[in-house]
Amino acid sequence: MQEPKYKRVVLKISGEALAGEKEFGIDQDVINSIADEIKEIRECGIDVAIVVGGGNIWRGRNSPQMDRATADYMGMLATVINALALQDALEKRNIETRVQTAIEMKEIAEPYIRRRAMRHLEKGRVVIFAAGTGNPYFSTDTAAALRAAEIEADVILLAKKVDGVYDSDPMKNPNAQKFDSLEYIDILNRGLGVMDSTATSLCMDNKIPIIVFGINKAGNIIKAALGENIGTFVKG
Ligand code: GTP
Repeated sequence: MQEPKYKRVVLKISGEALAGEKEFGIDQDVINSIADEIKEIRECGIDVAIVVGGGNIWRGRNSPQMDRATADYMGMLATVINALALQDALEKRNIETRVQTAIEMKEIAEPYIRRRAMRHLEKGRVVIFAAGTGNPYFSTDTAAALRAAEIEADVILLAKKVDGVYDSDPMKNPNAQKFDSLEYIDILNRGLGVMDSTATSLCMDNKIPIIVFGINKAGNIIKAALGENIGTFVKG
């Protein structure tokens, strides 16, 4: 079999993606199909770490009356719910999975310990990083960038509802143009909404490439993990 292009990937799954067609919560069919694809990636011998968002349960930034830090902590808790749902689906497929949380909640999951996460990956386990970076004011995209740097991942697979990076919001502008490839500096200079500037800068400084792609189409996660040309490639 051909050597996969990437040895170790961080898959970032937005919370909204887990809701599928629903407004809120977890669509079990979506979780199941994501877990099926992760199983395929593992079968290719690629190390998989996952960072999940929480927007399907709680969106801190849509709560302007609430203290930002409080709203962000609530968002971190939402990511833990998603992580456990994903772990359950993976384990149902006999994929060994460990959840690590950036905020200690030992009764529920392991605390984040970098060296331990690395060891799990070396043993072929999928590691799900929950609770973002553990700090308010940081997005789960920033958590993905941080964890990718820490675990020496080759690429971040940014699974979104939209199928790539566009020059304007394709949900609002039907004439929005998709980029096939980009550099991080373009995201910053053009103020593209794909990632916040903290996450973008972290990836740029640490030369971590990102593949931004749509999660709605079956098979896309595995294609991205195998380095196929889908969505938008942001050069590291
Ligand atoms: P190895 O030592 O490499 O074999 O890894 P392991 O994860 O199998 O070892 P360990 O005995 O540490 O963990 C066994 C199980 O307990 C795994 O499912 C872990 O995720 C879980 N576990 C370990 N530490 C904690 C913790 O602090 N809290 C919770 N809730 N679970 C934990």
